[in-house]
Amino acid sequence: MDRIGGLGEAEYARRMRAERRHFREMYLGAGEPTNAALDYMHRRWEATIAEETGKPPWQHVIDFVNGREHTTVLSLGAGACTHELDVAGWFTSSFSLDCLDMNEELLASGRAEGERRGIRVQTIRQDANRMELEAGRYDLVVAFSCLHHLVELEEVYLQVARALRPEGRFFVLDVTARNRMRLWPEALVVADALWELLPARLRRELTAPEGDKPVREQIPDLVAAGEGFECIRSEEVLPLLERFYPLDHLVKGCAFARQFLQADFGPNYDLEVSQDRQILEALWETDQRLVKAGLLRPGYFFAWARRSEASTEEFARAADEFHARGPEAVEAERMAPAAELESLRREVERLRWEVEGLRKSTSFRLGKLFVSRLAFLRRLKKPGARGDIESGPTG
Ligand SMILES: C[S@@+](CC[C@H](N)C(=O)[O-])C[C@H]1O[C@@H](n2cnc3c(N)ncnc32)[C@H](O)[C@@H]1O
Repeated sequence: MDRIGGLGEAEYARRMRAERRHFREMYLGAGEPTNAALDYMHRRWEATIAEETGKPPWQHVIDFVNGREHTTVLSLGAGACTHELDVAGWFTSSFSLDCLDMNEELLASGRAEGERRGIRVQTIRQDANRMELEAGRYDLVVAFSCLHHLVELEEVYLQVARALRPEGRFFVLDVTARNRMRLWPEALVVADALWELLPARLRRELTAPEGDKPVREQIPDLVAAGEGFECIRSEEVLPLLERFYPLDHLVKGCAFARQFLQADFGPNYDLEVSQDRQILEALWETDQRLVKAGLLRPGYFFAWARRSEASTEEFARAADEFHARGPEAVEAERMAPAAELESLRREVERLRWEVEGLRKSTSFRLGKLFVSRLAFLRRLKKPGARGDIESGPTG
């Protein structure tokens, strides 16, 4: 692999340093930035997974381990091993736990915490883009919130396939948003329509440099900050997983709601206020319905996969395709043409009075309205259409 992730060695090394610094400062400092509204949305996401798969995501891991005699577990991009140690506390069968990350400081903190709790964790400091895992070593591989930081996804998926035993499972809970965490243009049109419904106090940009925290007229299309690898190929994380792995469970969600609730606007919401809770619920419900109907592409997903039976050549072919085209080409292919987006804007505009009417009712079921009425999104969904979104609804 001469040009890793379509970058030269020097550029790759520079961005890896930035990535390492970012996570070291975050996880050994204040932790991942969050707020009550974002936490609320994440709880709704977990509840959706539980509804659709019969249990919360990590319970799949616990039940798998506890249903066997001895389980060898590997977690990729485990950081300070926080979730792994919490989950291991519920294991009642014997297990070994390997945590891999590129960041030694985070792993060291995980080892120390493991010792404190009496849980032995073997840490592996390695760049996952270049890892070579021992064939047939693991019963379970976990990837929590890590694949969207990786650029050599085909290689990573190949390594996991090799490392899993025949009855092994692959747990993935991750981000598959448009690259750099941006919204897809069609999601932006829908998000803008919802944005207009919000009271001004929820559109106040708290992180703006200006002193008076301006009220934004449109939802900003965030681009992941930093020089590292945040969402470098996130939009391909799920399509590639689906291409190579048989999935026992797949749950998709969150096309745009997160953009309403990050540090810039999220702390505006007060969960003690019933109007705010109602708005959060409406945002979540609209988003989830549109994703579930296959009309908007997901930003998050949960998958519980069996071992891939694809051959090394198939993975290598996919990696070659990627190296020949670079990370941006897929995004361009998946964009809806401007004229079609204009017609979506017009459709959303035509629904405006109905949406306004719904806002006045106690529980506004925007999701239902959008799903039934936005003919544009249905056209976009047709297999073979430019910007085709999904092959169909799941779950
Ligand atoms: C969003 S964090 C998630 C950490 C952990 N799974 C959690 O949820 O607390 C992403 C993690 O992936 C790690 N990571 C990013 N790129 C990596 C790479 N190329 N190889 C190994 N680890 C990587 C980072 O160091 C970081 O710990």
